[in-house]
Amino acid sequence: MRAVDTVIEGLKAAGEPTRLRLLCICSRGEFTVSEIHEIVDQSQPRVSRHLKLLCNAGLLERHREQHWVFYRVPQRGKGAELARILLSVVPDDDPQLELDRRRLSEVLDRRAEAARRFVEKTGLGKGVAQLDDEASVDVLILRTLGDEPVGELLDIGTGTGRMLRLLGEHADRAVGIDISHAMLMLARSNLHAAGLDHLSVRHGNMYQLRFADQCFDTVTIDQVLFQAEQPGQVLREAARVLRPGGRLLLLEFLTETTIGLWEQDTGDLAVIDEGLLEDWYRDAGLRSIASRRLSGSPFPVVLSMARRQSQDTEAAA
Ligand SMILES: C[S@@+](CC[C@H](N)C(=O)[O-])C[C@H]1O[C@@H](n2cnc3c(N)ncnc32)[C@H](O)[C@@H]1O
Repeated sequence: MRAVDTVIEGLKAAGEPTRLRLLCICSRGEFTVSEIHEIVDQSQPRVSRHLKLLCNAGLLERHREQHWVFYRVPQRGKGAELARILLSVVPDDDPQLELDRRRLSEVLDRRAEAARRFVEKTGLGKGVAQLDDEASVDVLILRTLGDEPVGELLDIGTGTGRMLRLLGEHADRAVGIDISHAMLMLARSNLHAAGLDHLSVRHGNMYQLRFADQCFDTVTIDQVLFQAEQPGQVLREAARVLRPGGRLLLLEFLTETTIGLWEQDTGDLAVIDEGLLEDWYRDAGLRSIASRRLSGSPFPVVLSMARRQSQDTEAAA
């Protein structure tokens, strides 16, 4: 298809009142068909037909998670560009769109309430490491990344979406993955509350990331390895999806081998010390470029950054 045909298809797809409404809705995050159907108050088959047309034209993308299919405006590509241009000229004060926005808020409030109940019930999502000063850790993370662009960002084990919230607005594209559907709902809700609807979260397993080799510039892992059975394998997967020269930023519990896990009540936590981390980095083709110990509870925390070696450097090593 010629580039101009893509634009024509996009304009045709958006050039219908319900589909324009759907485009506006799906620019506010990712929504299931039943949520969208509730917002626009039209039959599900009709809504599904319109969504399909918008997807075919590249103005929306869809992904399946458990029993649900989510729709959203893509973060990049020709469709994303055209959608952005169209959305920028849609008047804010249209009464129909205002009504859609009100109903959309009700859907999001319900999600936030479900996420709040989940945190209350499970205690998950509160952040594991009690860092002595969370705000200053955020500053340190930003300082560690420095002026080099974040580019395309992947957050592994995104949980509450903390890293996405911190770095998302600096990224060209940002996606978080987590194996827990409940955590993904929590992350979605938190991203919305932070006004970061353009970022996305996906169901995924850190041992087998569903991304091509070398497609991210930055990967973050925040308090995930300590629960992993094979932390080294997670780092190899992270390195695989990093472009040569790309950076991995890691915030992780650090347990001192001299103190040893065995003398503490640590449940299933893995022993991670700086030496081990260096070994895992080397195996994964990563080179440590910054490391800093921070005080935290129950263990100190390491803020570490490593760079993916280029093939030439690896071959020479
Ligand atoms: C302690 S939480 C980290 C939270 C997150 N980084 C944050 O600050 O909110 C660990 C996260 O890793 C996720 N996780 C555990 N095993 C995973 C796997 N195999 N693949 C992807 N995510 C996983 C858990 O569901 C959980 O959300």
